[in-house]
Amino acid sequence: MNAAVVYWSGTGNTEAMAQAVAEGIQAAGGTAEVCEVGQTDADTISKFDKIALGCPSMGAEQLEDSEMEPFVEELEPMISGKQLLLFGSYGWGDGEWMRDWCQRMEEAGAHLICEEGVIANETPDDAALEECRAAGKELITASV
Ligand SMILES: Cc1cc2nc3c(=O)[nH]c(=O)nc-3n(C[C@H](O)[C@H](O)[C@H](O)COP(=O)(O)O)c2cc1C
Repeated sequence: MNAAVVYWSGTGNTEAMAQAVAEGIQAAGGTAEVCEVGQTDADTISKFDKIALGCPSMGAEQLEDSEMEPFVEELEPMISGKQLLLFGSYGWGDGEWMRDWCQRMEEAGAHLICEEGVIANETPDDAALEECRAAGKELITASV
């Protein structure tokens, strides 16, 4: 079972989460195709039935606007019925960007693996990385 893990990360925090999600996917017997959002496109990712997307809180509780936001806009009409895991790191906020992102993708018809996404404050600690691994496993084992 293949899953795509696509992320944007400025200082490496969300990237560390992406690696942990991939470890969970592999631990559950799946194959993880991990790539930075700038290295892929929505058409390619829409071919996967299991997708994990990672992005930190940027702007004012927004997705990163030069690569991730345009990618998500393009993927949105193709996400219906897919199993989707959202994750990312944040700083001083309360996770608003992730609540908004989860709601947006649910409204687009995605089946969210973790209803509230997986979030970590700045550098993910061991507990946050473990949560990412568990979510990666669930992405592989969940059936629609
Ligand atoms: C330009 C910019 C805007 C940010 N805006 C927010 C924000 O609105 N809310 C928040 O909680 N953190 C905000 N942060 C903090 C980042 O989300 C946080 O440092 C995160 O760990 C970065 O993840 P990364 O290492 O994957 O890039 C912002 C950081 C930057 C550089």
